[in-house]
Amino acid sequence: MADTAKIVVTRRIPEPAVELLREAGDVWVSPDDRPLETQELHDAVKGADVAVTLLHDKIDDAFLDAAGDQLRAVCNVAVGFDNIDVPAATRRGVLITNTPGVLTEATADLAMTLILAVTRRIGEGERLLRRREKWSWHMFMLLGMGLQDKTLGVVGMGAIGQSVARRAKAFGMEIVYSDARPASEEVERELGARRVELDELLSSADVVSIHAPLMDATRHLINAEALAQMKETAYLVNSARGPIVDEAALVEALRSGQIAGAGLDVFENEPEVQPGLLELDNVVLLPHLGSATIETRTAMGVLAAKNAIAVLRGEQPPTPVNPDVLEGAAS
Ligand code: GLV
Repeated sequence: MADTAKIVVTRRIPEPAVELLREAGDVWVSPDDRPLETQELHDAVKGADVAVTLLHDKIDDAFLDAAGDQLRAVCNVAVGFDNIDVPAATRRGVLITNTPGVLTEATADLAMTLILAVTRRIGEGERLLRRREKWSWHMFMLLGMGLQDKTLGVVGMGAIGQSVARRAKAFGMEIVYSDARPASEEVERELGARRVELDELLSSADVVSIHAPLMDATRHLINAEALAQMKETAYLVNSARGPIVDEAALVEALRSGQIAGAGLDVFENEPEVQPGLLELDNVVLLPHLGSATIETRTAMGVLAAKNAIAVLRGEQPPTPVNPDVLEGAAS
């Protein structure tokens, strides 16, 4: 491994990850927490052997051109990699890695938090107190929906979807799911989960929770038509990627009472939040906190660093997205 390898980290990441990277080369870390503007990003990555990137950095042909031919890998500190043009990277022999596994439980906890918060009207209750309004307990105050014997519809039964289903089952929910690929029989048995078509899931679930990756097939998967299939008493939760939901259609469905409420950790044009959403009481909004625990963010940074170091050492990286690049390099 050349000890002069140049490693560019496009935003602050936890120190243990930076320390690891320092063992493998010269490390430049963007000094603050805001995303770099496109030109700043392109200037920063010039001459890098490895770029460690964050989920709002756009990795496309222009980025790869700016980096130069010596770029060997882009190690995204996220499980999702919809910010990366993977075919463009593969064409150039640039390895992409992500951080699956280490954020599964934290993200599932957050999804369950949203499910509880929206069905039990936590935000509304909190806002009521913060408005310092006069209130007294009564039988009909802020009544929500109990989860016991209700149905959770999991859209995308990967690791995070399964972990959410596990939690929901502990709360007494029945599980249905939709996914192009069935979960293993063992998982279906453990969770009592039944695979159904999306249409059936939408029309039968009391809570629809999204855990699919963002790709062409899932962009606006939950549009006006899909929302119209949901029960008027049902809730939508999205902790995956904003553009999976047509936000304008969601605002309309929430306004008109087409569905009962929504819990959102992600937005279509992050960090913008539709003004329409901010005006509604039946929606719980969070600023993309899915993996935001100290332990998880550290583990994500360290996994990205391990991927970067493996590439620089010519070793097998733990979590490649386009491993065909490695096979190509070996042949
Ligand atoms: C977070 O959203 C991630 O993809 O890791």
